[in-house]
Amino acid sequence: MNAMQSKHPLKQHPVKPIPKWSSHLSVGNAKLDEQHITLLELGRNLMRLLETDTATPDQIHGALEDIVRQSRLHDALEESILAANGCPTLAEHIRVHQAARNQLDTLLEEVASSIVNKTVLSGLIADWMGHHISENDLPVKDYMKQTPPARAAA
Ligand SMILES: [Fe+2]
Ligand SMILES: [Fe+2]
Repeated sequence: MNAMQSKHPLKQHPVKPIPKWSSHLSVGNAKLDEQHITLLELGRNLMRLLETDTATPDQIHGALEDIVRQSRLHDALEESILAANGCPTLAEHIRVHQAARNQLDTLLEEVASSIVNKTVLSGLIADWMGHHISENDLPVKDYMKQTPPARAAA
């Protein structure tokens, strides 16, 4: 049996799966749901690159930049909606967003310096995307239902 192991084509960079969006992840706000779906799609794009041995650091950096850009847009809108609806845990929510953005910035620097570990990168992104919606957003979805008109285009 052990002889089989060395011939088994193990993936060089196993990646963690990105959670699939489904209606049970809905926060009850179409715009925020749309942004969550986009974030998950961008996460899957990154994972596909990480699974591809020929992906260049530039490609991986670009995919991560797309995630960073979308998460900044999303955090700003989500925070403005939570604030407009008087969410009592807004400060903590903002702290969690900021911590994730700081981690993303660090990952971007690591990818730019080509010192990134693909397994670690995929694990961090998949965990963040999983937690972001189910553990951070769903508990306060009652404060996400309306988009403030003046900030809707943010
Ligand atoms: Fe959030
Ligand atoms: Fe969110």
